[in-house]
This record gives sequence, C-alpha cells and structure tokens, in this order.
Amino acid sequence: MTEMKKILVLPGDGIGPEIVAEALKVLDCLKSDFGLEVETEQGLVGGAAYDETGQPLPEETLERARAADAVLLGAVGGHKWESLDIAVRPEKGLLGLRAGLNLFANLRPAILYPQLAEASTLKPEVVAGLDIMIVRELTGGIYFGQPRGVRTLEDGEREGFNTLVYRESEIRRIGKVAFEIAAKRDGRVCSVDKANVLECTELWREVMTDLGRHHPDVELSHMYVDNAAMQLVRAPKQFDVMVTTNMFGDILSDAAAMLTGSIGMLPSASLNENGQGMYEPIHGSAPDIAGQGVANPLATILSVAMMLRYSFDQGALADRIETAVGAVLDQGLRTPDIMQDGKRQVGTAEMGDAVVAALGSD
Ligand code: IPM
Ligand code: MG
Repeated sequence: MTEMKKILVLPGDGIGPEIVAEALKVLDCLKSDFGLEVETEQGLVGGAAYDETGQPLPEETLERARAADAVLLGAVGGHKWESLDIAVRPEKGLLGLRAGLNLFANLRPAILYPQLAEASTLKPEVVAGLDIMIVRELTGGIYFGQPRGVRTLEDGEREGFNTLVYRESEIRRIGKVAFEIAAKRDGRVCSVDKANVLECTELWREVMTDLGRHHPDVELSHMYVDNAAMQLVRAPKQFDVMVTTNMFGDILSDAAAMLTGSIGMLPSASLNENGQGMYEPIHGSAPDIAGQGVANPLATILSVAMMLRYSFDQGALADRIETAVGAVLDQGLRTPDIMQDGKRQVGTAEMGDAVVAALGSD
C-alpha cells in the first residue's frame, strides 16, 4: 500500500467494545508483523453516543466516517435505550451511517467452518460445505421508505404504517453487485422477493430478470421469501448468491447465520459505489452477556478480513486472518456460543489472543 489508510472504529454498545478490542489486536498484529499500513481512531455511535451527546449518530461521527477509508463497527442497542423515541434509538445511529455513507450493498457470507459442523442445530450433512453469499440491499426499502409513522385516525384508533419502496435504479445497482460476485463464485444468483403479493418486488423481479439477460454467464433464479426461508433450513447448499431487499435480507441472514453454528461467526461488509465500506458482525449487542468477557469475537475479526479484502485490496492478509480463525477452531478453542463436548471453552480475550498467535504461524 502506498498511503496510510484510515479506519474509524465505532465500538458501540453491549458486547461491542469487547469484540472490537479483539479485532483491534488482530489489526495491530498485522501492522507490526505484516506491514499493514493503517491507522485507527475511535468514535461514538449508538447508545454510547446518545448517553454522551443526546444523539445516536453525532454529526462529528458521520463526518469522520465519511473521511475514513473504512469503518469498523461493533454493535448498537440495548435494553437501556429501548424506551427512547425511535428517532434517537441506538439503531438509528447504525441506519444513519448506512444512509449517510450510501452503503447500499451489504454482503453477508454464511460460510461453515468444517470444525463447527456439529455446532449447528441442523444435521452436519445438511450444512457441511455451506458457502452462501447473501447480498442485502441496505439503504432502501421499507427501512427507509416514506411515509412512515403512527397516526391517529378519525375514529380515534391509532394506525402504524411504513412504506416499501424501491426505485428501479436501486434494484439495478444491488442486482449488479450480486451478479458480479456470483460470476467470481459458483455463477448462480437467487433473487428473493414476494412478487406474488407486493408490486414493489414485482418490479424487483422484472429488473433482476433484465439484468440476468446481460449476464449470460450467471444462472438466475427467483424465489419467494417464504419459500427461501424454508429452503435455507431444508437444503441450504442449493444457494450460491442470494440477493434481496433490505428487510428480507435482515431476516434471511439471521437464519443463514444459524446454519454456520452461531450468529457469532458471521461478518459483513457494507459498501458504497466508491468501495468505501463499513464492516461489522451481523449479530447485535447481546446486552445479556455484555461485560462478562464471554462473547465470540470471531465475527468481528472476520469483518476485519472483509475490510482488508474489499476496501484495502489486501486479499492475502484477509486470507491469513481466515486461516488463523480456522486454526484456533482446530485447536479446539470455543466461546460458549459454539461450545461442544470435548472442546475447550474460552472467553473473548483468550479467543482474540489465540487468533493473533495463529496469524504468525504459517
Ligand atoms: C442487522 C441488524 C440491524 C438491521 C438493526 C440493529 C438495525 O439487525 O444489521 O441485521 O435491522 O439492519
Ligand atoms: Mg439483523
């Protein structure tokens, strides 16, 4: 790398600071031992930011995120902030970053480490070899559609409403990402919609079909979201790349995460048109175990690998992290969420240290 890259680190809430600390150990090791040229600075987001500034996404955080080459985020949210007005809840901090940086493409790889085949709630033969890439649209759809709110009707009853809306151009650009990724993988895209009921996703299907014509190298299929949820637990290996709307992607990626043994294993990348990205584990802030040093840091560490691959063009170092994660699993180390008989249970910091140790051993 020729210039120093800047990473804005946003630990957030709950287990966020604990897992991010382990990811930073990995980054430090890559800096000191492998010549990675990055510098990190920390910022506030989520409940932590609200407590300090009254806003889940202070303007300063958004500005620093825009100026950074990449953002590493832990998690946001917690019981403490649940009764706040929805406009200032921690989750708004995350959504504001996604919208503010235009991070429309969310990549969520569900890969089963063979060492964890027995840790999944599904039969090992159903999940062995699993390698799915979920491409979730992240800045549109019902998460951001207007109008939205809760209103009181003439008869005095309250009514809540949200709007599912996609412009053709939004569908096209996320579809393009999915096709391009599939072309470098197994060459198959499954577009997930609810075109039998929702006009908006009827358009989604039309645009995906049109894109498919321009990508004869990629095999396109369509699936209704209810069926896709079923197929994910019935026969998940049929999927290569899945592309879907913001909300369907939110739901399906949690389901896919469990196929891999634990939601504590899944990283994500959220990218904009310029390759700028935000990297975070797909799991939440897990307030029930926060502060206990037992959370699984591997999804966050694997998110650093995605950062190196997608934002910094450092594929070899990304591979190195992923290999190191495999090595610690081979050593039998397990945080409680992936604990199995005969393995050794470790805490968050010990898991992070083990990954760092494995980074250096070829
Ligand atoms: C995710 C999370 C977020 C989402 C929440 C925390 C706003 O569930 O990244 O999947 O719904 O997108
Ligand atoms: Mg989610």
